[in-house]
Amino acid sequence: MKKGALIFEGNEKQVFATDHPDKVIFRYKDVTVAYNNVKRARFIGKGALNNQISAILLDYLNRNGVETHFISLLSDQEQLCRKIEIIPLQVVVHNRIAGSLAYRLGVPEGFRHANTIVDLRYNNDDLDDPIINRDHAVALGLATYQELDGMYDCARRVNSLLKPFFHQAGIELVDMKIEFGRASDTGALIISDEISPDTCRLWDEATGERMDKDRFRLDLSRVVESYSNVLKRLKQVTEQ
Ligand code: CDP
Repeated sequence: MKKGALIFEGNEKQVFATDHPDKVIFRYKDVTVAYNNVKRARFIGKGALNNQISAILLDYLNRNGVETHFISLLSDQEQLCRKIEIIPLQVVVHNRIAGSLAYRLGVPEGFRHANTIVDLRYNNDDLDDPIINRDHAVALGLATYQELDGMYDCARRVNSLLKPFFHQAGIELVDMKIEFGRASDTGALIISDEISPDTCRLWDEATGERMDKDRFRLDLSRVVESYSNVLKRLKQVTEQ
């Protein structure tokens, strides 16, 4: 696969064209940003770790009947993906209350609830990725009600697959953000972007220690070590 021009540059990743019209190369950068770019740092090795973690999780979803953009790993920081048309929405699944949801609902972090909570965010940096509802998304022309139903169903299915997968690694999947796109070849709604410690909250089941981007957000140190521990444990699960 021949690497072509840079077609998108985000804070934490780059996307390159290839000589195939429906395939792109995703490159995970070592940069980390938080609080809508207010906080920014570079962690050597983070890109390679997220590339591998995301590959394991997306491949697991592909093999369990959830279509994602992931095709194969190419190098340390790069993976081959299906080209998609981005839908600027984030579907956020919560299994336990953490982060800004704790403030929003007025409950302590770690609060356990029996149901699964699904939030919708408008992916828009200028507006700080606000929480919106389905009617807002349709009003803005971002997706149809039918597509939104598909995204919610798919997000719940992803959660029901990844929660036990992380559990086998001794990690609690507290919450995660999922993004969708329309595949350029078939038009199907598929999971795009990464699923990694940058987009999930992952707590060590034994110690409660945070193993995700909160280590950076909250200045808890050992960011790369924690991501590396997540990868090591997921590899142990897949090699079983
Ligand atoms: O991070 P915060 O608690 O403010 O927002 P959330 O939407 O409740 O976050 C839930 C999960 O989605 C966390 O694991 C975040 O890291 C992730 N997230 C993300 O990856 N990108 C965003 N723009 C917003 C949230």
